Amino acid sequence: AWYQHRRRLQERLESRDALRRAAAELDQRIAQRTEELTAANQAIATKYAKLQQTESLLRSTQDELVQAGKLAMLGQMAAGVTHELNQPLAAIRAFADNSVKFLARGQQAQVAENLQHISSASAHMGRIIGQLKGFARKSGDAPVAVDLRQAIEASVLLLSGDFEKQGVEVRIELREAVHVTGDVVRTEQVLINLLRNALDAVEEAPRKCVCVLLEVDHVQRQAVLRIRDSGTGIADEVAPHLFEPFFTTKSSSKGLGLGLAISSSIVQAMNGQLSAHNHEQGGAEFVVRLPLLKTEN
Ligand SMILES: Nc1ncnc2c1ncn2[C@@H]1O[C@H](COP(=O)(O)OP(=O)(O)O)[C@@H](O)[C@H]1O
Ligand SMILES: [Mg+2]
Repeated sequence: AWYQHRRRLQERLESRDALRRAAAELDQRIAQRTEELTAANQAIATKYAKLQQTESLLRSTQDELVQAGKLAMLGQMAAGVTHELNQPLAAIRAFADNSVKFLARGQQAQVAENLQHISSASAHMGRIIGQLKGFARKSGDAPVAVDLRQAIEASVLLLSGDFEKQGVEVRIELREAVHVTGDVVRTEQVLINLLRNALDAVEEAPRKCVCVLLEVDHVQRQAVLRIRDSGTGIADEVAPHLFEPFFTTKSSSKGLGLGLAISSSIVQAMNGQLSAHNHEQGGAEFVVRLPLLKTEN
């Protein structure tokens, strides 16, 4: 009996030791896990801070890119605009010179007519200049209602000289009045980029035609703007790089490769999407989708 008692005591002591050891081990493991978790937490916090840094860097780079692209485009446009302004300017001068002669001869009626021509030629110049003013401006302005029909008409007007010169037919189909929220100047910048690309695309085409279509997707509550051309379409090897900044297939005097990169960032900033595909009947089609102005929903 004594012996049995002794053995039970021994067993009890042993199991108590084992329990203590297990508890100590558990404590140690908890301490270790806590340490690991704290370290992991810190690593995440550091990574997050870095992510935020990168994000703000990207954002400012994008802003700079947009601004740089605007200036580059202004340069590109300068040549075309110089031509556009020179024509009415030459006309004004001719009418003015003539008027002097008419005045000397006392031909009042002709003078009046010439003054009328001078007035309308300078109004035309004013319209062109008015379109350009916005481009040099840094726009971070509050969003306003943008009338897409007006934006399309203004952009086409600005390029009408080029369309005419290259013998390109422009077809505009505006089904409904459509308003979106954003910036008028930037919206026109997107349109001009797309129209300019379409112009370049049809340069060598047998049939030169650019079609602008504006419609409303009532389900998605989006304005849908399509710019389609009768060119050769987007080449397979070009498609993956289309929206990359500085990607261009044009000569350096013609293309900077910024147009689509900037346009897509502008459209994205307006909560929309810019996409491109080849039309089944040939030629490229660029599609701009922008959320409708809230009050029109
Ligand atoms: N309408 C189009 N049809 C075919 N290819 C196009 C069209 N628009 C753009 N591209 C292709 O995408 C490239 C990039 O366009 P973009 O960013 O506007 O730069 P850029 O016009 O200065 O070359 C063009 O060089 C051209 O190869
Ligand atoms: Mg371009």
